[in-house]
Amino acid sequence: MREEVAREGLARFYIPVSHEYMRSDGKIEPSWMPVFYNPYSQVNRDLTVLALRAHMKLGGRIRTFVEPLAGSCVRSIRVLLESLNDYGIAYASDISQAAVELCKRNIELNDLNTRIFVEKSDARLFLLKLDSNGVPVDSIDIDPYGSPIYYLDAAIKSVGKEAIVSVTATDLGALTGRYKDVGLRRYSAYIYPSEFSKEIGARVLMGAFVKVSSYLERSAEPLMTFYHEHFLKAIFKIKRDRRGASNVINDLGFMCLDKDGNFKAAYRIGEPPELGCFKMVGPLWLGELWDESFIDAMMSEGKQLSFLSGEALKSLEVIYSEMKVKALGYYDIHHICSRLKLNVPSFSTLIKRLNELGYKASRTHFDRRGIRTNAPIELLEKIIKSLSQN
Ligand SMILES: C[S@@+](CC[C@H](N)C(=O)[O-])C[C@H]1O[C@@H](n2cnc3c(N)ncnc32)[C@H](O)[C@@H]1O
Repeated sequence: MREEVAREGLARFYIPVSHEYMRSDGKIEPSWMPVFYNPYSQVNRDLTVLALRAHMKLGGRIRTFVEPLAGSCVRSIRVLLESLNDYGIAYASDISQAAVELCKRNIELNDLNTRIFVEKSDARLFLLKLDSNGVPVDSIDIDPYGSPIYYLDAAIKSVGKEAIVSVTATDLGALTGRYKDVGLRRYSAYIYPSEFSKEIGARVLMGAFVKVSSYLERSAEPLMTFYHEHFLKAIFKIKRDRRGASNVINDLGFMCLDKDGNFKAAYRIGEPPELGCFKMVGPLWLGELWDESFIDAMMSEGKQLSFLSGEALKSLEVIYSEMKVKALGYYDIHHICSRLKLNVPSFSTLIKRLNELGYKASRTHFDRRGIRTNAPIELLEKIIKSLSQN
């Protein structure tokens, strides 16, 4: 394997020479590399760094970071250099021998030999071994190529009294309803494409996480959810808490869609749905997607760190505005306009008009064509019509 040295955040690390794994569209294809490194996931790693810093800013304690699917170990290295600075230990594993060998050299390059321990292992065995060896696990990052579902049980089982657990999914076809049978098989959920498929994907992923934590008698509190072109990421605070686990499972349910794929109503598990529901999506997470004080803390940490990509902070700014709008789903304004055969209005004017009428509205980070609002669809269409006549 020919190598080059890459830089990300405060880390320097060896990776396979990336231009040798270029697709015909000019993008690097990390799954072709002998050791996986995806430069387009920098924003994901930035958010991991920020989430751990935010947790500590809010009084949480992190002594250990666990990365069971580590690739080049760039994430563990970054966490130690950027979140846990002078203390903290990381435990990493990968099933690939080549990855583990590269990890060892990358750990050495960053002078972290005494603080990152890496081994060749299946992720599940690794997590269960940490648990049975009594290692206090304060944070875990599950970052597979595909679905994280296979690792959830072992990851949640291995956490101590309280931990921050981040999960990334790249199987967006299954989570957004393009491959219904895969979605059903993998997440035990009926998923249909809709105007707000990306949010549905996030909620299905979160629902799966909550189901597993609940049967393991852990409460799972969602701290942040994030969509990017090729992945969905959800971060939770997990606690050993039987009563909390029973409470949180009550926020699972179904979303009812109308025939245009718009959100119509939500039903908690056990509640009978109204007649006239065109499609039922779920079970999925119906609770909050973001914890406001956590997002505040992530943003204020992010503003202090000049080495992060601008993308993380930019997305957090949109999330900061959309989390204030308490609404399930968002509207694809381009889709509505094409259905009504109207020009797309200026988003800022549309948001202003909704606000003037007493409704909350914001752009959504899930989709550049979307607006999150608590206004009913009929009113939204009326405003769009009036704006396109001016
Ligand atoms: C998406 S990459 C990880 C990227 C890394 N977390 C980062 O931030 O750059 C997924 C990694 O999981 C490894 N892997 C796949 N199946 C595994 C398993 N069952 N146990 C452990 N590692 C596995 C692959 O070799 C690959 O390196």
